[in-house]
Amino acid sequence: MRKKIVAGNWKMNGNVSFLENILQEISSTSKSLENDKEVYIFPPAHLLLAAKTFKNRMKIGAQNGYFADKGAFTGEISMLQYKDLGCDAVLIGHSERRAIFKEDKALLKNKVDAALSHGLKVFFCCGEQLEDRESGQQESIVLQQLQAGIFHLSADDIKNIVIAYEPVWAIGTGKTASKEDAQEMHAAIRKAISEKYDAETAQSVTILYGGSCNAQNAQQLFAQPDIDGGLIGGAALVAEDFKKIIAAI
Ligand code: 13P
Repeated sequence: MRKKIVAGNWKMNGNVSFLENILQEISSTSKSLENDKEVYIFPPAHLLLAAKTFKNRMKIGAQNGYFADKGAFTGEISMLQYKDLGCDAVLIGHSERRAIFKEDKALLKNKVDAALSHGLKVFFCCGEQLEDRESGQQESIVLQQLQAGIFHLSADDIKNIVIAYEPVWAIGTGKTASKEDAQEMHAAIRKAISEKYDAETAQSVTILYGGSCNAQNAQQLFAQPDIDGGLIGGAALVAEDFKKIIAAI
C-alpha cells in the first residue's frame, strides 16, 4: 500500500538555530508514526547538511535541483550533489519555480529524469490557477502538467514519484480547497495514472494536497480516500501546528 506523508516546504525561510529547534520539537511526533507514514522536511539548501544531523526518523529533501551532474552552471546544485549530501527527495515543478523562475515543462521533465536516475524520490507539484478553476479547466490543466512531467516514466519509476496537488490560488492565501474539490482532483489524478499505467500502480502512488493546509483543516482533508497527506508551507514553520498536521495522518 502507498505511504501516507506529511512534508514541510520551508521555501526561503529559516536559519540554523530555527532548524535545530523545530526538528527537536517535531522529532518525537514523527518518531511515533507507524511504518507506513513518513515526514519529509524541505529546508532551504544551506540548511540541508545541518538537517541531516538532526533529522532523526524524518527524511530530507531539496526544494530544487539542476539536471546536469556538474559543470559551468553558476549558482546551481545538481541532483547528484544532493544525493551525495544525503538527501532523500527533491521537489520539482512547484508553482513558484514555474511562475517566478520560468521553469518550463521541458526543463521539469529533465529534472525529473535526473533526480530519479540518482535515486532521489521526486515530489512533483501540479495545480491550476484561479482562472482555470473558474472556467472549469482545472482537471485538464493538471493532467497536462502530469502528462508533460511524469507520464513518460515507466511503471517502476512512477512508484518513486509523490504527486503534490497544489492549486495555485490556495498557496499562501488562507483559501484552502474544500475537501470535496480536493478529493475530486485527487481521484481524477489517480484515475489518469490507472489509465496510463494500471490500477495497481495507481493505488501505489502517494498524492498529497498542498495550499493553506493547516492544523485546523488537515484532518478532514487527510480523511478523504485519495488524499494521502499534505505538502505544507506556512504551517510547517510553526512547530505546534506542524506536529498537529503530522498527527492528522
Ligand atoms: P502554504 O501551505 O503556505 O499555502 O504553501 C503551500 C505550498 O506551497 C507548499 O509547497
